[in-house]
Amino acid sequence: MAISARKLRLALLISGGGTNLQVMIDRSLAGTLSAEIVVVLSDRPGAFGLERAARANIPAFHVDYKAFLKHSPTELEKVQLPVDLADLDRRQKIVRHPDPIERQERLARLVMAEHELIRIIDSYRPDYVCLAGFMRLVTPYFINHCNASGLRILNIHPALLPCFPGQHGYEDTFQYGCKWGGITVHFADEGEDTGLVIAQAVYPIWPDDDLDKIRRRGLSLEYEVYPQVINWLAQGDVALKSTPDGGTRVEITDPDYAGIVGSWVARALES
Ligand code: GRF
Repeated sequence: MAISARKLRLALLISGGGTNLQVMIDRSLAGTLSAEIVVVLSDRPGAFGLERAARANIPAFHVDYKAFLKHSPTELEKVQLPVDLADLDRRQKIVRHPDPIERQERLARLVMAEHELIRIIDSYRPDYVCLAGFMRLVTPYFINHCNASGLRILNIHPALLPCFPGQHGYEDTFQYGCKWGGITVHFADEGEDTGLVIAQAVYPIWPDDDLDKIRRRGLSLEYEVYPQVINWLAQGDVALKSTPDGGTRVEITDPDYAGIVGSWVARALES
């Protein structure tokens, strides 16, 4: 179905194969995604997603995290960082080393890489930054910069959050013996996979399934849910609601919401 909402500008961040990226590219070309992918970035050279972007004539860059993470303490001392490290350390939740000096050095290396990411991202003026298989945790420096004018960073996670955060959502779901697995699209915040949930979908895990089968089942949902969330954002159908306990929830205001969620369930049961 073609849609008519304002087209969003998206920056996609990837680390690997980029199958979610490919779906977004295909749907954007087919006119069923209310968005244009204006830039693709990877945390390493050689990520296949960069090639997918290049084939679609989308500007593609890598920021070599491995190289940044090698900086010695002496090299770090010479660098002018865009943040106060002690303050960043107080606010961050991702680097857990017990020694504060070591922790701040690790943060400094991440900030250097993020500074480079931000320089490129900003030059393309995206409405949203979409993490799509980007296997790096981001610091409050990155989050605050991108969120200066509202929640602007999305992530797709291969489990039903808050269960199984981290890098191995499908493996963890399968190994735990869950009978249903799920996927989540959420706003990224300063924690690891802790931001506000926007949309979720579930799939069954049958007795004779293996990890490959459930990953395929989950990915086929990822390919539906992430583009749908982008379309909801473009249509203005993602509302933030305050809760009585002082929290915030996302509410989808699309009148077709129940039908769309129902189609995800039906699809998962058939797959
Ligand atoms: C997906 O499972 C996504 O949920 C997770 O990383 C994987 C990326 O796959 N964050 P791809 O690179 O889009 O193929």
